[in-house]
Amino acid sequence: METLIIATHNKHKLQEIQNILQGLYEVKGLSDIGCTDEIPETGNNLKTNALQKASYVKEHYGYDCFADDTGLEVDALNGAPGVYSARYAGEHCSFDDNVAKMLREMEGKTQRNARFCTVVALIKNGETHYFEGVVEGEILTERHGNEGFGYDPIFRPKGYEKSFAELTTEEKNAISHRGRAVAKLIDFLKQQK
Ligand code: IMP
Repeated sequence: METLIIATHNKHKLQEIQNILQGLYEVKGLSDIGCTDEIPETGNNLKTNALQKASYVKEHYGYDCFADDTGLEVDALNGAPGVYSARYAGEHCSFDDNVAKMLREMEGKTQRNARFCTVVALIKNGETHYFEGVVEGEILTERHGNEGFGYDPIFRPKGYEKSFAELTTEEKNAISHRGRAVAKLIDFLKQQK
């Protein structure tokens, strides 16, 4: 079976993909190949960062690989925090710090449109492929719900009455940026079999 690495230390992401591609690909995470490195993410856009992570694994470990990168773009903040979403409130900030900063920056603003964007970069058989997923929505004025992570308590997807943090994992994955990008990746990988 072909081996494919997902450039993540997140066991949940790994297991989800392993289940879906069971029997078609042997999917391994970074810890399975002995990679404990802090892989650099120094690009100024999602595509560059996703490719940087996948290329790192290919170059240092020799495996075909895919990696994702996600950002939250807020129209009233001219697209910020975007590619810098993880470090919005500072270098070693928590999810809660980021949410608190976003609520402050958005105080009093009536234009609250925002979107999550994910790019997956896949390096396979010497070629690079990209898969994108987007979910449109709004930044809420206060936190709602306890599920999920990151900006989920203050992001309400378009057409829903609930924030991402009030949806179950299954409900969120069905419409989320990452869910959509990964669905495209999986279609592509299945077609190759
Ligand atoms: P990453 O590229 O998946 O590490 O995502 C970068 C940052 O975007 C994370 O640190 C979170 O702050 C935010 N983020 C990514 N995906 C989500 C999500 O599904 N919900 C809420 N925040 C997210």
